[in-house]
Amino acid sequence: MPVNKAFSELERAAVYRAIAERRDVRRGFLSRPLPDELLQRLLAAAHSAPSVGLMQPSRFIVIRDLAKRRAVHDIFKEANAKAAAIYEGAQGDQYAALKLEGILEAPQNICIVCDTQNERGHKLGRQTMPETAAYSTVCAVQNLWLAARAEEVGVGWVSILDPIRLRAILEIPDHILPVAYLCIGYVDQFASEPELERSGWEKRVPLETTVCYDVYSEGSKS
Ligand SMILES: Cc1cc2nc3c(=O)[nH]c(=O)nc-3n(C[C@H](O)[C@H](O)[C@H](O)COP(=O)(O)O)c2cc1C
Repeated sequence: MPVNKAFSELERAAVYRAIAERRDVRRGFLSRPLPDELLQRLLAAAHSAPSVGLMQPSRFIVIRDLAKRRAVHDIFKEANAKAAAIYEGAQGDQYAALKLEGILEAPQNICIVCDTQNERGHKLGRQTMPETAAYSTVCAVQNLWLAARAEEVGVGWVSILDPIRLRAILEIPDHILPVAYLCIGYVDQFASEPELERSGWEKRVPLETTVCYDVYSEGSKS
């Protein structure tokens, strides 16, 4: 059955608003856990993301257990200390002051993994670009992130983790690829700019420096 009912002006504005006001959240999580129905809505949004060949390779590990989150937090601290070591002087001080995760503050975390070898989709679209399985999981992450913003729920992506140690903690088998480790929970506010911009670490670039036509060109002024 085709669904071709046009979005109202308000609905359209809401979609763009969720996109513009989505933030990576690492602080300010409230201790109240997300109700199950809300979590299910967010997971359903993620699960309805596009996927190569309709493979639907994403799997969602919801982590509420404090001992598990502490174990992940420990490997974050280790990875972050190693990451910090490449920066020197003022940049080193600036890196050390960044808050780059909310693993323990958020009452739940979600690890989104990809079953890259799954036969679903019969390899359609994956023969030339096998990495599209993982890209499909990234689409699921973004769906969840946007839906969460509309529900006043903050999400922060933590990639400063040794994937081998993460696999061990969460019992992720070798053929399953960990894609995103997310801290997720209610927040009472969202920042208007990315935290890395507010802290002076990096700035967003204007759209026109990222677009070229017909052929690739190094037009970026960033
Ligand atoms: C693949 C990926 C990995 C990221 N890893 C981290 C991370 O480890 N720690 C962190 O604080 N933010 C992480 N972020 C968040 C980015 O820093 C953030 O998206 C960016 O600064 C723009 O801010 P915004 O999401 O609020 O617009 C990650 C984002 C992506 C897409």
